[in-house]
Amino acid sequence: MAESDFGIFLMTAPGFEPVLHEEVRGKGFKQPRIVPGGVVIRGGWPEVWRANLWVRGAGRVLARVDAFRATHFAQLDALARKVDWASVLRADVPFSVEASCAGSKLYHSGAVAERVRKAIEAVVGAPYSEEAGVVVRARVEKDVCTLSLDTSGELLHKRGYKEAVNKAPMRETMASLFLRQCGFDGNEPLLDPMCGSGTFVIEAAEMAARLNPGRARHFAFEQFANFDAEAWEKMRAVKSRRETDLRFHGSDRDAGAVAMSQANAERAGVGGMTVFRQAAVSDIEPPEGPKGLVILNPPYGTRIGDKKALIPLYRALGQVLKSRFSGWRVGIVTAEGMLAQATGLPFLPPGPPVPHGGIRVTLYRTAALG
Ligand SMILES: C[S@@+](CC[C@H](N)C(=O)[O-])C[C@H]1O[C@@H](n2cnc3c(N)ncnc32)[C@H](O)[C@@H]1O
Repeated sequence: MAESDFGIFLMTAPGFEPVLHEEVRGKGFKQPRIVPGGVVIRGGWPEVWRANLWVRGAGRVLARVDAFRATHFAQLDALARKVDWASVLRADVPFSVEASCAGSKLYHSGAVAERVRKAIEAVVGAPYSEEAGVVVRARVEKDVCTLSLDTSGELLHKRGYKEAVNKAPMRETMASLFLRQCGFDGNEPLLDPMCGSGTFVIEAAEMAARLNPGRARHFAFEQFANFDAEAWEKMRAVKSRRETDLRFHGSDRDAGAVAMSQANAERAGVGGMTVFRQAAVSDIEPPEGPKGLVILNPPYGTRIGDKKALIPLYRALGQVLKSRFSGWRVGIVTAEGMLAQATGLPFLPPGPPVPHGGIRVTLYRTAALG
């Protein structure tokens, strides 16, 4: 794949595609197109690097290497060997292959992975390892085999600064998309009154400061044959940070969560823009200055009994917000419509449910409260 224009797939959770599309388009990527589970753009390796470095909402970035029709294994063997693997994979870097099949004559994903592995071993001579940081993906759908490289490596919500996490942290990628769905663009203050490890607050501060989400981590593409370390360093070194007087607030009734959030914000380099304090939701007050967004994901309980027990908490939250936060918008992420309704807040039509930690959660948003 010496070509400089190929399909680049930015993955997200189903339901989030239009929000990710908006972000990708806003960041100037070419021809973004919504597909199930993500957004496809066109470009070359600089766009692949940039997508990993810049895009907050994508879970990973795949670069398409080749696609061909294959209805039997001999065909897959022959065509997989024709791919210019040596232009992207290094003989000294271990790789692994993950395959999936749907609606195709080739339906055994293990056998497909094995054939692609053999082809790469034959062409490049790279060692195979299940634990390899370089992963080739083979997707056979309706008899078309698409071969891609996972250019991210570790999922992109791992921004590289978060050491401390609480029980149910929200992925940074997801938090950024919920923020965007609430119309947050970094130009207003924010409060998360159940901040846990500080995910919403830190993402918001980074957006306001125009910090690149991938600035503090490594990516799988650094191990590729065509990686140009000097060009990458230049791209990474472009200073995007802007100063702002806005502050991003988090509170939690748990002292451990507050300490964790503070430490995470410091490590992310936004400690000076964030304010964390220990408080129960019943004690929160709007921060001084302009009005902005209150966003949170309260506990939602997994069993029926837990859910009922949470109604008073949601009701109290709603009362506090309605009585003290006039002019602020609210975004609540929860798994239970019934709990959201218990707040008594005037919600706009809810967003689509999105998967989160084995369940589905929905964003309930309001316009500015009266
Ligand atoms: C689901 S977690 C939030 C996770 C967070 N968004 C993150 O990414 O780490 C819910 C948080 O609400 C806090 N909490 C529960 N009840 C509270 C209350 N009455 N007042 C303030 N915080 C509360 C818990 O301590 C917990 O940290």
